[in-house]
Amino acid sequence: MKKTALLALSLLLLSACGRNTASSVIAGETLSSPDGHLSLVFSLSGKGEPTYALSYGESDVVLPSKLGFVLRGVYKGTHAENGQNIKDYGPDGDLLEGFELVDVSRDSFDETWETVWGEERLIRNHYNELAVTLRKKGMNPVHKAVDRARALANKGLFDVLMTVRFRLYDDGLGFRYEFPQQEDLSYFTIREECTEFRMAGDHTAWWIPGDLDTQEYTYFESRISEIRAKMKEATDYREPHHFSDAGVQTSIQMRSDDGLYINIHEAALENYPAMHLEADPRKLSFRCWLCPDAEGWKGRMQAPCKTPWRTVQVTDDACKTLASRLVLNLNEPCALEDVSWIHPVKYLGVWWEMITGKSTWAYTWDYSAVELGVTDYSASKPNGRHGANNENVRRYIDFAAENGFDGVLVEGWNEGWEDWRSGQKEDVFDFVTPYPDFDVAALNDYAHSKGLRLIMHHETSSSTRNYERRLDDAFAFMKRYGYDAVKNGYVGPIIPFGEGHYSQPMVDHYNHVLRKAAENRIMINMHESVRPTGLCRTWPNLIGNEAAQGNEYRSRIKPHQVTVMPFTRLQGGPMDYTPGIFESNILRLNPDSKDDYMPTTLCKQLALYVTMYSPLQMAGDLPEHYAEHMDAFQFIKDVAVDWEQSRYLMAEPGDYVVIARQARKDGVGASAWCRGADDVWFVGGVNDENARELSFSLDFLKEGIEYEAVIYRDAPDADGVAGMQEDGSNPGQRYVVEKRRLTSADTLSVWMARSGGFAVSLKL
Ligand code: NOJ
Ligand code: CA
Repeated sequence: MKKTALLALSLLLLSACGRNTASSVIAGETLSSPDGHLSLVFSLSGKGEPTYALSYGESDVVLPSKLGFVLRGVYKGTHAENGQNIKDYGPDGDLLEGFELVDVSRDSFDETWETVWGEERLIRNHYNELAVTLRKKGMNPVHKAVDRARALANKGLFDVLMTVRFRLYDDGLGFRYEFPQQEDLSYFTIREECTEFRMAGDHTAWWIPGDLDTQEYTYFESRISEIRAKMKEATDYREPHHFSDAGVQTSIQMRSDDGLYINIHEAALENYPAMHLEADPRKLSFRCWLCPDAEGWKGRMQAPCKTPWRTVQVTDDACKTLASRLVLNLNEPCALEDVSWIHPVKYLGVWWEMITGKSTWAYTWDYSAVELGVTDYSASKPNGRHGANNENVRRYIDFAAENGFDGVLVEGWNEGWEDWRSGQKEDVFDFVTPYPDFDVAALNDYAHSKGLRLIMHHETSSSTRNYERRLDDAFAFMKRYGYDAVKNGYVGPIIPFGEGHYSQPMVDHYNHVLRKAAENRIMINMHESVRPTGLCRTWPNLIGNEAAQGNEYRSRIKPHQVTVMPFTRLQGGPMDYTPGIFESNILRLNPDSKDDYMPTTLCKQLALYVTMYSPLQMAGDLPEHYAEHMDAFQFIKDVAVDWEQSRYLMAEPGDYVVIARQARKDGVGASAWCRGADDVWFVGGVNDENARELSFSLDFLKEGIEYEAVIYRDAPDADGVAGMQEDGSNPGQRYVVEKRRLTSADTLSVWMARSGGFAVSLKL
């Protein structure tokens, strides 16, 4: 790859001086990253087409790529009905060419901000900025028929102003479109955003299929040119809601043959649909494809407004990609004045037993359909397997309290689970009515008396209108009983309107819930909502998100999944991956389960507490399974969930990830083991399907002092993929716990089994 973009720009600028051809560049602006490695070129061709290009040193990253939109004008006032004021119809047509340059402004910014919780306490936000304001004159109104003659006479009916703002960091580019307040543009509808990302080579990519309703896919590795051919294979078991057989989701991670790590995602997704990408396997490019609403339109806008940031992260090292804070930095600072009520949470849940089918969310099998406020549960026969019963919940609370946890999630506590997946019922749950065997007051009191809190669960079954109507009552109910955190979820098609999970109305819904929760001082963990785009910087009460395929997929989790996620899903924010599944033989919980075995070693499950960053970490398994391995469970007890700093030691997407993190000093998330200690570190390593040994230096430790280390590693005969053996043994559960004294001069070599891993705790 050669650095063609800048060269092309200068040639075109020269040719523009000589002769005024339609294709020549009439304007060009360049911008460098603070360290000078990344260069951006913005150009406007003779036809008024805006493009951008990005290079890293001598290498092209994004070849000149289109910017702009196709609009559908909308009626915007009352006067136009009688044809008196045709401007009351918004512009129709494209915002792709015919622009002239109105203004160029530049800025730079350098600040260090403190996280409420995070992979590190302090984050540097350092960039150079370029904003180009463009005008397109003479756009047609949408209803040409209203006054065709007048339109023709006037020619230039609409003049539209659009600013493209670029921020260039040392680790990547962010850019967004802004529509300032202006006379001719108020309401408009987006048919499509046409932003392109033309790659400079046929990179290896890690991607999941584009889908309107789910992100719960296994990451697939292929060349860009193979995306279409591999789509069927990548879509494996599910019924996809695809928009294209070459459609993928962000964040997509790529690696060029000469070692650049390139990632496309977005930041600060608000009041706009999520961006999927349509790959062009021949041209090696991606084009923005916005998730539509129920009518098929993309964005309904009102100027002044702006899009989210489109991000292209670029580094020359996989570990630097993991250390990048590009997406967080492009989000607005914390919107909350008082964050004292927000805290990291380590929790257990009455959950895995339902996921595996050992117990049920539903209380009774008497009715195949139930109705809120009408069905008399007390008259029904309990099915005998209801997980959220008083006795069972107390058992979890006891175990959680004994082992220093902060919370216990209880799912299936409220009426309505008997027919929650009908997919068409609006009033599925009211979020305030417990089943007869769940004593909400007594259980909360019991939890509080033991120094922890219950975590609320709101499964909305995607009946979002119902949820919005009941939200105030639901939050008031939580406050009444002392809950300060809720896991909510959006399983199934959106009711009642059928728009996709990542459309603009749904993005608005998730953000509405988040703001309402903040007003009520409630922390949120969203499942099945849109994948995060760094909004947790602005709303740090968003302590958890699923929005990807986590442990709940059991046998369908591929060994490499967690070696890709830190590069992709976690770029936008933490994930409630629900680690800590010790009993990988699912048949032990449910002999009828189709998901017979989860391909992992026990030590890999420990490592996830370090490699899958989240301030909200679950110990996903059942207390009785932990009781069988208390020596290994010690790591889950000890591990911190909030960090002073993080070091990315070794990583390759799809192969392995090794991370070291220093516990945040006396943070709320500090375990008893961390508390009061001078310096505490945890290291985690996860592996794909190939056994391997990795060696790394401990030079992040303080020099010349011995640390007390506990190493949890796969035993030499461990194997995360072999499954249950004929003798009834489980090679995934073979591990060694070893104590050593280590210093910063040491190098640690650890062997990881197939789908294995290791965890280390270190303290002074
Ligand atoms: C899907 C969620 O991801 C899972 O964690 C939850 O238990 C079920 N929905 C039921 O709400
Ligand atoms: Ca889910």
